[in-house]
Formats: sequence, C-alpha cells, structure tokens
Amino acid sequence: MLRDVYSRPIKDLRISVTDRCNYRCTYCMPLEEYVWIDRSEILSFEEITRLARLFAALGVEKVRITGGEPLVRKDLHRLIGMLSGIESVLDLCLTTNASLLSEQIGDLGAAGLKRINVSIDTLVHEKFKQITKRGDLDKVLEGLFAAKALGLHPIKINAVIERGLNDDDIIPLVEFSREHGFSMRFIEYMDVGNANNWISEKIVSKKEILATINARYPLREVGRDSGTAPAVDYEFTDGVGDVGVIASVTEPFCSSCTRARLTADGKLVTCLFSDQGHDLKSLMRNGATDEQLIEVISSVWTQRTDRYSDERLAAMNSPEGYQPKAHHKIEMITLGG
Ligand SMILES: C[S@@+](CC[C@H](N)C(=O)[O-])C[C@H]1O[C@@H](n2cnc3c(N)ncnc32)[C@H](O)[C@@H]1O
Ligand code: SF4
Repeated sequence: MLRDVYSRPIKDLRISVTDRCNYRCTYCMPLEEYVWIDRSEILSFEEITRLARLFAALGVEKVRITGGEPLVRKDLHRLIGMLSGIESVLDLCLTTNASLLSEQIGDLGAAGLKRINVSIDTLVHEKFKQITKRGDLDKVLEGLFAAKALGLHPIKINAVIERGLNDDDIIPLVEFSREHGFSMRFIEYMDVGNANNWISEKIVSKKEILATINARYPLREVGRDSGTAPAVDYEFTDGVGDVGVIASVTEPFCSSCTRARLTADGKLVTCLFSDQGHDLKSLMRNGATDEQLIEVISSVWTQRTDRYSDERLAAMNSPEGYQPKAHHKIEMITLGG
C-alpha cells in the first residue's frame, strides 16, 4: 500500500470538475484576483476517468466530485456513469450547492450516483441570498428533496458556520435535518484560499457548535467514519438522526488524512492548503503511459509531508499568532472542498 512520509495511505480522491460556480459564497469565492482556468486546460471526462482508475489501482476507494459547482459542468451524469464503472471505487459522492440538482438528479441517479452532500448554510431566504450572493433557497430545497425522493442515502447537509452570520442557524438546521432524515455536517470556517478575509474571531469552534446543539438535543459521540473521515460524528440520544462536525481549525486531523485532490486542470494536490500541485494533465497530453503516471503519482504521495492545519493551530497558539496571508494557497474553487 502506498504511504506518505507520516505513513498515511491514499484512500480518497476529490476531483474538481470545474472552477466555475453560479454562486459567490462570501467565505469561498475569490472574486477580484482570481484567474479562471482556460477551458482548453480543463480535463475531459475521459482524462478524469483514466486518472481515477490509476488512483484506484493505488488504493483509492472513495471518490468525491466537487468544484466550483460540479453541476454547472455539462453532462456531469456522463462522468458519474464512467466512474461508477471502476469496480474498486466503493463510494462515489457529489458535493453540490444543489441549485441545479432538481433538473439533473434523475440522470445522475440513473448513472449510479448513490450519495450527495448539499451545502446549505441557513434556512432563512434573505440570509441565504446574502451568503451566496445569487442563490435561491427554494430551488436548492427542491433539488434536495428530489434527491431524497429518488432514494439517495445518506444525504448530508454541509453548513459552514461563521460567527455573527449564521451561528443562530445551528438549531434550525439541526431540527430541519432531524425532521427530514438528512445528516447535518457543520464545518468550522477555514482560511481557504487567499481572498476570503478570514480572521480567527469568525470561527465558531466545534466545541461551541456541540455545546449549542447538546443544550437542546443531547448527543453521544460515535467517532470518525473509518477512523479517517474529516467529520467527528455524533448521534442524538433520542435516536433521531445524527450530526457531524468538521473541525479542521480547532481540532486538526492531519495525522489521519488520506485525501488526494485533483484540480479541474489536472493538478494533483496533497493538501487543501497547498500552494501548488503536480501537473498530471501535461504529462497525459504529452503521451505518458499509465505506468509513467502511476510512478509520478506514487512518488508525489510517498514524499507527502503536508500537515498544514496542525501547523496553523500551533501558530495560532504561539506568541506571534497565525498570519493567514503569509502563506499563498490554491483557491477552494480550483481545488474542490
Ligand atoms: C468549495 S464547495 C464545492 C462544491 C459546491 N459548490 C458546494 O458548495 O457544495 C465544497 C465545500 O466547501 C465548503 N467551503 C467553502 N469555503 C469554505 C471555508 N472558507 N471554510 C469552510 N468550508 C468552506 C463549502 O461550504 C462546501 O460545503
Ligand atoms: S461554496 Fe460552493 S457554491 Fe459557494 S461559491 Fe464556493 S463553490 Fe460556489
């Protein structure tokens, strides 16, 4: 099995299929300084599938399709169908803002999609528009319930919690997910990219999120799925539903990180906070064989030393503090969340 410098195996592949998005979420979108990836540089579905097969041969069992907004990529269901054909990929999932989901869910389901994560940070219409800049909450809910009606399971709802913006949405989101059988995932606000004006004061920590929920709906810790998932999961003691918290800032999980990332233009990136990737697309387009690509991927992974969130926490606790702008990072829309 392929292991990096800290003995972490490669198990998950997050594939960004586009850096384009129809939303402009304030915590994610680098509006001013971002240079969009040229269309000719975007991997074709055939190129993505070829790479996914090679990653699967190296140990990847889970593939997540993300972006930007993956559903703005034309005919995404075709890619889902192609990836579903890779036998050793046990879990194929999509992370989406769901704005275009109701139109596409039939084709996606027929192509083999079993699982989705939908991002919803608030159930208040006005605030949803304020956060996403252009989103229509009703359209998102239509997509969410269409996926439920089709039998996708589990359906997870992701919410990034930002102090003063939507910390008062924690309980309504919990109640909504319990009522409708969705799994709620709260995400600590992270300093992804370079343009989202992140300051540590805006983080609502895992501890605070759990205290808020626990005061109303008592919880019991279940742990991380497979021991390596980003979320720590909890179940409600009354037996109705579950909730997870992704605490990359206050409780980093670098030591168990098994995730590789592929950008829409074919760069292999080994950490969400990396400043560079390894260009697999150019190798492929210059005629590299599968064996050569496997060698490159293996070499990148075996030399991997990333532990950015561990280092950020240490810096936050140091007398100098943490300076988010001191480290240039690839933007979230390029990398996929
Ligand atoms: C980059 S988005 C891509 C997929 C899709 N457009 C969506 O919003 O679900 C993937 C995930 O990253 C999360 N995300 C984006 N910026 C973040 C930030 N600064 N901190 C924490 N999570 C963030 C989003 O909320 C979303 O759940
Ligand atoms: S979080 Fe998702 S929906 Fe929002 S701007 Fe980023 S990519 Fe788009």
